[in-house]
Amino acid sequence: MITKVLITRKIFDEVRTILKKFFEVEENPNDVPFSGDVLIQKLKDKIGAIIRLTDRIDDNILSQCGALKILSNIAVGYDNIDIEACTRRGIMVTNTPGVLDDTTADFTWALMLATARRIVEADQYLRSNKWNGWELMDFLGYDVHHKTIGICGLGRIGQGVARRAKGFSMRILYTDVVRASSAEKELEAHYVDKKTLMAESDFITLHVPLNPQTIHYISDAEFSLMKPTAILINASRGPVINEKALVQALQEKKIAGAGLDVYEKEPQVEPALLQMKNVMMAPHIASASRDTRLRMATMAAENLIAGLTGKRPTNLVNEKILTKFGNNSNNY
Ligand code: DGY
Repeated sequence: MITKVLITRKIFDEVRTILKKFFEVEENPNDVPFSGDVLIQKLKDKIGAIIRLTDRIDDNILSQCGALKILSNIAVGYDNIDIEACTRRGIMVTNTPGVLDDTTADFTWALMLATARRIVEADQYLRSNKWNGWELMDFLGYDVHHKTIGICGLGRIGQGVARRAKGFSMRILYTDVVRASSAEKELEAHYVDKKTLMAESDFITLHVPLNPQTIHYISDAEFSLMKPTAILINASRGPVINEKALVQALQEKKIAGAGLDVYEKEPQVEPALLQMKNVMMAPHIASASRDTRLRMATMAAENLIAGLTGKRPTNLVNEKILTKFGNNSNNY
C-alpha cells in the first residue's frame, strides 16, 4: 500500500514531525518550485500532497498521478487547482480558511495606512540623508480616519477589515454577491451596488475570491468611476485587478494611489508600477506572521491526515466528492 506523501516546498519542522508519524514524507530539498514535469514525477507515487498556491495543478498533471487521493493547499484560496478535475477523479482538495483572517485584515490596514501616509517613501527619503528637519509641506498624504471605505467582498477577511475601520470612525460601504445581514448590523456596514461603492469610496479594498466572475473585477470602467483621491488596496488575488488598466489609471491620475500585495502574473509585476511612488507593494505576504503561517501549515497537515485515514477533512473544498464517493469510502 502506498503511504507516501509529498510536501512541495519548505515547511515548519513541527509540521514535518506530525506528518512523519503517519506517512513516508518526500520533501523538496532545494525549496524551488517544481516545474510541471517534475511535479508529475514527484506526485506519481504519492497518495497525498501538501501544496501551495504557486503549485498549479491542472487536469494534465492529475491524469498522470493516479494514486493521488488528496491535495492539501496551504492557503485559503484554491484558484491554483482545477477543482472540477479533482472531483471528477475522486481527489479531495482542502484549504486553510479562518486562521488567517485577522492577520490578513491587519496587513490590509498596513497597506492602506502606508499608502495613504506615504510611509515607504518617507522611510527611503530619510535613509538617503535628504532630511533637513520638519517641514510644513513635506509628505502630505491622505487622512484615513472619518473617510469612506468601500469593501468588495464582506466575507471573513472583509469583515475583519470593516471591524478595524470602525475604530477609525470610517463610513463603511460594501458590495458582495450576497448580503451579509448580521455583519451589516454589527459593523454598521452599508450595502451598495458596485458602481456606488466605486464612486463614493475614498479607500477601495478587495476581498473577493478569484473565479471567472472576478477576473478583472477592477478595470477601466471601475477606474473611471473612482474619485481622483481614491486609494485602491488589493490583498486578495492579483487577476482581480486588470494591472494594465491600473497603470493607466495611475498615470492619468484617475486615482491617487494603490497598495498591492498581489499581482496579475506573480512573481512578475507590471514594470511601470515599480517606478511609481504612490504605489506601495509587498510580495504576497498578507498572511505572513509566524503564528498564522504555522497555523495554516498545521491545518493543512491535519486535513491531509484526516483525508488519508478515512475521515472527512475539516476544510474539504470539493464537498461533491462525498456524494460521489461516499463519506467513509476507501476511495479516500
Ligand atoms: C491565501 O491563503 O489564499 C493567501 O493568498 C496566502 O495566505
